[in-house]
This record gives sequence, C-alpha cells and structure tokens, in this order.
Amino acid sequence: MMDALRFVPPAGTPLGLADVLCSVAQALTRADTLQRFKEDVRMRAGVRYCDFVSTGRAALTLALLALKTLDGGGRDEVVIPSYTCFSVPSSVVKAGLKVRLADVDPMTLDFAPGALERLDGSRVLAVVATNLYGLPSDLPSITRWARERGVYVVDDAAQCLGGSIGGRPSGTWGDVGLYSFDKGKNVTSIDGGVLVTSSERVAEAITEQVRVLPSCTMVESATHLAKLMVYAALLHPRGYWLPNSLPFLGLGTTAYRTDYPLAQYDAWMAPVGCRLFARLDAITAQRRANADRLNRMLPWGPKLESVPPRPGAEPAYLRFPVLVDPEYRDVVLAALRAHGIGATASYPTAISDVPELRGHLQSDDRETRGGRWPDAS
Ligand SMILES: Cc1ncc(COP(=O)(O)O)c(C=O)c1O
Repeated sequence: MMDALRFVPPAGTPLGLADVLCSVAQALTRADTLQRFKEDVRMRAGVRYCDFVSTGRAALTLALLALKTLDGGGRDEVVIPSYTCFSVPSSVVKAGLKVRLADVDPMTLDFAPGALERLDGSRVLAVVATNLYGLPSDLPSITRWARERGVYVVDDAAQCLGGSIGGRPSGTWGDVGLYSFDKGKNVTSIDGGVLVTSSERVAEAITEQVRVLPSCTMVESATHLAKLMVYAALLHPRGYWLPNSLPFLGLGTTAYRTDYPLAQYDAWMAPVGCRLFARLDAITAQRRANADRLNRMLPWGPKLESVPPRPGAEPAYLRFPVLVDPEYRDVVLAALRAHGIGATASYPTAISDVPELRGHLQSDDRETRGGRWPDAS
C-alpha cells in the first residue's frame, strides 16, 4: 500500500545531516573555502577563469552585460529557444536586451533543425544554449552557426552540470558558460551561479561586472543557513510530503520575474557547495542509472515518447523528460503524484506566451514563428 507520508521531490540534491553540520562548522571557521570551491569548479570545467555570483539568473544577466560591453556594433538581440526555463528570457530583459526566439524541436528539446539558419542574425549579439533538463544541446552545431556570423555563444548549463557533448563538459562550449547551485539543481548551495570562460577578454569584461556587485549581508547568510537546514530535513521522501502539501509555498511553479538581485555569492554557502560538488560524478552516475532503468521500463509508443540525448552527448539528467499525448497528460501526472512521485508538467507555456515579455520579443520579416506579437519592437 502507498505510504501517504512519502513523496519523491521532483528535483534536488541529496544532503545528509552530517553535510549540514560540517558545512555550518566550516562556514564559521574557515575563510578560504570559496577560493577552493572556485578552483575545483575551474579545474573540473578545464577553463581559465571562473567566478561565482548570487544566482544562475544573475550569472546569465552578467554574462550578457559583459558581452554587450565588448560589442562595438550595438547589437541588442539574444537568441534563445522558444521553450525553456523562464529565467532565460528574464535574464535577457534584465540585461537590457531583446529576446529573439528560435524554434525548438520537441523530439530533442533543442533548437529545431534550420531554426538558427532561418534567423536574420544581423542584430544578434549572442545565442544561448540551455541544455534543457540536463540533456546537452547540440553545441558543436550552435557554435559553428555563431562563429560564421560573429555571434557570441553562451553555454547555459544551469541544468546540465556534469553533462558533456563531444567529450567536452557542458558549460564550456561557448564564449562564456554558466552553472547554477539553486535548490533544484544537481549540486546545490541553496543559491548560487557560476560563470566560466577561457577567453581573457570575456573574463575581464565579467570581472568588471562582478567587482561592483554588493556582497551578502549577515542576515542573508543566516537565512541561507536556515534554508539549508530546512532543505536537508525536508528533501527526503519522508519529509517532502510536508512542504508539498502546502500550496502557498508554490513549489514546482514557474514565474517570470526580473526583480532578482545581482549580487556576490554567499561565501557561507561555499562549504556545502564544495562538499556536494566533490560528489558530482557519483550524483551524475546515479541519475544516468535511474534514466537507463526508466528507459528500459517505460512502455514507449506514440502516446508516450522519450527524448533521446543528442549524438555524442552524456546527459546530466537533472530531470527525465517524457512527451505525453496532451489527452493523457493530466491523468498521467495525477497517477504519478498519487503514487508519491513528484512529476511535473514543467514550464507552463512557450516563451512567446509569457505575457510579461510583450514588447521584449524581437521578430523579423523572414521569421514567421519567432513570437506571438510580431509587432513587438
Ligand atoms: C536554463 C537555465 N538558466 C538559468 C537559470 C537560472 O538559475 P537560478 O535558478 O540559479 O537563478 C535556470 C534555472 O533553473 C535555468 O534552468
């Protein structure tokens, strides 16, 4: 019989009491952990430069602001997938740039074949690959398209830490890449974003942006520590039923917001992040093993389709995406939830249907499906 007080959360990093206690002790006694954490990330990614900021959204915003300062031509558009996390267009808007959508292929959840080629790239500053659900995007093709047009590439691996394509880690393909240490990610420090690059020029532009950011206050750090304790206590299936039964917490819901701060990373959170980051290989291996099992077990067919990784990709499987016939979607979700499995319908709409983006979507004459409001400027 199903245990009513057991619910598997849709996302999160397993974290024990020992992790929390060690991290709190280290946060109070050691000042150098952030430096070590940065070095660990830099070495693992194999990049020359790495910096930490408050969130993944802040990292994407700052990356775009940095690229904007490097551009002499006043290009002001950023190409993103037409279906992705709402944080991506919100970061573009927060950086004062315009969103240009490129179609997504539902069978890969990556840019559709020819979608980039169909765009007028003359005002495009950057293209953002979003490696959705930890399935690496086709960065070799995206990079080729961008290089031919002098467009910057942002390899947004907020969802794909631990993944790779063509033997190269996700996040390191572009002119600049990023990771997130948010609560729902493969490695968490409650909040946190990372910028990586091997370009001296881009690194300098990022440093200019990061240098002037406000640092975390004591109250914010104490709040992070308190959240960490609650997270460790309630993320386990034996505890998650509690927050899951409180709708006002809004768990698993997606909102479009641009009012997040651009700030420094909270050094108090470095010990827990660094500790979990050291387990990244084990975390990723477990996720891949779970995905293999589901791939073998699920009754694939026209009403339930899988999203196979791109050729040469090693996914991080932040989520295990499946395509369900719309007629059955709600039934399937309700059945999974009734069995204590935190499945979600993911992002509620395509980016073109986010009302707050009205006026920020850029389309052109040749692009017919780039936005719902072709008159937007
Ligand atoms: C693709 C992508 N980019 C950026 C972000 C923003 O990261 P954060 O939640 O740390 O702000 C997210 C968040 O999930 C994301 O999925």
